[in-house]
Amino acid sequence: MITDADVDVDSIVYLNGEYLRLGDARISVLDRGFIFGDGVYEVVPVYSGRPFRMAQHLTRLEKNLADLRISVDMDRADWEALITDLIHREDHRYCMVYLQVTRGIARRDHAFPKNSTPTIFCMVSPFERPCAQRREQGLSAIAIPDIRWLRCDIKSISLLGNVLAKQAAVDAGVDDVIQFRDGYLTEGSSNNIWVAKDGRLLAPPKTNLILEGIRYGFVEELVAQVGLELEVRPIAEHEVATADELMLTSATTEILPIVQFNSQPVGSGTPGPLYQKLRSAYDQVIDNLEQA
Ligand code: PDD
Repeated sequence: MITDADVDVDSIVYLNGEYLRLGDARISVLDRGFIFGDGVYEVVPVYSGRPFRMAQHLTRLEKNLADLRISVDMDRADWEALITDLIHREDHRYCMVYLQVTRGIARRDHAFPKNSTPTIFCMVSPFERPCAQRREQGLSAIAIPDIRWLRCDIKSISLLGNVLAKQAAVDAGVDDVIQFRDGYLTEGSSNNIWVAKDGRLLAPPKTNLILEGIRYGFVEELVAQVGLELEVRPIAEHEVATADELMLTSATTEILPIVQFNSQPVGSGTPGPLYQKLRSAYDQVIDNLEQA
């Protein structure tokens, strides 16, 4: 029984070919997603009824499924139809589409089962774009060691490291964490981190140590569009601590400034000029999408 007051149990979700009330959707306790965290997911933001960067999200999903050797009887058109169908059934103009695929139900055994049918689940939940206060006041963050596995490039549903990271932020009374592995920046608890120094933007390389966010690619495009310089290279912790600006990006946060790091102001302690440039370019693209 779902009791969380924030959840609309009457909203319609998709589970293995059926459309059901969220409160009625059930999976087996033997699902490998439940037993092993053996699956992947995507979170696609929808603006004015239009999924943003759906093709890129589906490319990442297909790559992740291939990496895990989960084969699903769905082609690109089927995924797109599923997502758009659910958005229209729920009639949410601004929402997040959550799509999860697991290896399916099998007797508990670590090795892949010979013939399980993947479980496909999709739900939409309301999405409020980051409010003016968060954009203008910015966020706070602390540094923590990155204790996650070495395939952070897979958008795995096994999120214990990310869960512990976010809880560390909550426990410290800050908005998020910035994770470091061997002294180098990886990412936030559930977002990519950007560093501005001397007028240029820095980002960690797209390796197995971070998830390549769909907004990572989007910001790369915006940087070129607004004429900024982007340097992709390993970023040491002291560079983050002495940055002029810090920002984070994800489907749910879009792009937001981090103005306090380890209790110290970042640069001037207010959202900086590179953030403002990228934010207005970001908003412009979303405005165009909304009006298309
Ligand atoms: N998180 N890094 C991690 C670890 C993430 O979990 C996410 C997204 C990102 C940014 O990816 P994108 O730009 O595609 O949203 C980077 C989603 C939103 C989540 O788990 O809810």
